[in-house]
Amino acid sequence: MNKTEILKEVQTYIRQAFLEEGTGHDYFHIERVVINARKIIEKENADAFLVELAAWLHDLGDYKLNGGVDKSEELITAYLRSLNLEEDTIVKVNEIVSQVSFSKGNTPTSIEAKVVQDADRLDAIGAVGIARCFAYGGSVGSLLYNPEDQSKDSSSIQHFYDKLFKLKDLMNTTTAKKIADERHQYMECFVQEFYREVSSS
Ligand code: NI
Repeated sequence: MNKTEILKEVQTYIRQAFLEEGTGHDYFHIERVVINARKIIEKENADAFLVELAAWLHDLGDYKLNGGVDKSEELITAYLRSLNLEEDTIVKVNEIVSQVSFSKGNTPTSIEAKVVQDADRLDAIGAVGIARCFAYGGSVGSLLYNPEDQSKDSSSIQHFYDKLFKLKDLMNTTTAKKIADERHQYMECFVQEFYREVSSS
C-alpha cells in the first residue's frame, strides 16, 4: 500500500470503530480534527503523512473511552503493525498521540505533535466545542450548571472556565491561534447569554 492507500484504510477502520460513539469523540470529531490538521499544515513544515496518521488515531485507546485506562499505545501499535508499517513510523505516531491530550499535560516536542494538538483543541472550542461540552457532560451525568454550590462545581458550564477558555492561549501554531480567537469570542458570548438567561428567571 502507498501512503494514500494506508490513510484511506485507517480512515475506514476509525469510521467503523467510532461511528456510534456518543460522548463527543465520535467519528466526525476525528474527521474534523484531520481536516483542521490539513488546514494547519499548509503553513507549517511538517510531515503530512505522520500528522494525518496521528490525527486519525489520536482518540484510539483514550482513557475516557476505555473505563479510565489508557490503551492508546497498545492499540495503535497492534493496528499499525497489522498494516505492515515500519516500526520507526509506529514509534513516531505513538509519540505524537501521547503528546496531544490536555489531561496528560504533555508538551509537544515535534511540529507534527503541535499540529495535531492544535487540530484537536480547535474542535473543543467554538460552536462545535459548546455542543461537544454538553454532550460529554450529559454522557457522564453532569449538570448543565450548578447555581447552589459553585465550589464543587463540575457542571458543563464550569468546564468552560476549567478548560475551554484556556485553550486559545495554548495554541502552538499561527493558523490555529487565528481560528481559536474567533471561536473563543463566540464561546464568551454564549456563556454571557447563558448566565443572563439563568439569572433573570
Ligand atoms: Ni480528540
